[in-house]
Amino acid sequence: MLKRRQVIGTVFSAAALSILPVSAQNLRKGIIVVYSRTGNTFGLAQRIHEKTGYPILRLQLVKPYAENYNDMTYLARDEIRSDARREIATKIPDLSGYTDIYVGGPYWWGGLDVPMRTFLKDHPLEGKRIHPFITSGSSSPRGAIEDIRRLCPKATIEPHFYSSNSEVSSALNNLDKWIEESLKG
Ligand SMILES: Cc1cc2nc3c(=O)[nH]c(=O)nc-3n(C[C@H](O)[C@H](O)[C@H](O)COP(=O)(O)O)c2cc1C
Repeated sequence: MLKRRQVIGTVFSAAALSILPVSAQNLRKGIIVVYSRTGNTFGLAQRIHEKTGYPILRLQLVKPYAENYNDMTYLARDEIRSDARREIATKIPDLSGYTDIYVGGPYWWGGLDVPMRTFLKDHPLEGKRIHPFITSGSSSPRGAIEDIRRLCPKATIEPHFYSSNSEVSSALNNLDKWIEESLKG
């Protein structure tokens, strides 16, 4: 009798171990929210979408910035310094059912870009797991992560992914590893 219980116990825990990662994923519902002016950060979003199947919500603006960098960069700097908003034209779905939000944007002037700041001011993602992904010319993404932390004080900020804009395509292997890790736990 004792022998039989031990066998059953062993079989049961082996089955539970193999099921656990799948059931953990089933409890998750993810969405990728990204602002990308010139496409670099959007490239990362597309890869995350391919690997996870999560939908992408690309933020479009009511008044888009000028295409020319010189024509918009100091305006963006003034917006950051005065904590101004850039209104979002994209219709935002009900996010309440999502557990995991992949938040992506470019690094602007020491922190997160203005459109994503505006989105997070309106949607502080309380209780969500946030997976940030950031691109920049060369600056460390630290300021952008701090902005996300400040704007989303009741979210859990998971490890971020960063790539410089010149390395976005060669960073895909590392991105895949980060995506895998982001699905665990
Ligand atoms: C307004 C503005 C400010 C920027 N500031 C910085 C900066 O401080 N440091 C940096 O390394 N790159 C900076 N960049 C470069 C962008 O972060 C980089 O090109 C990024 O990959 C663009 O992403 P996107 O194509 O998704 O818009 C800035 C770009 C813009 C438009």
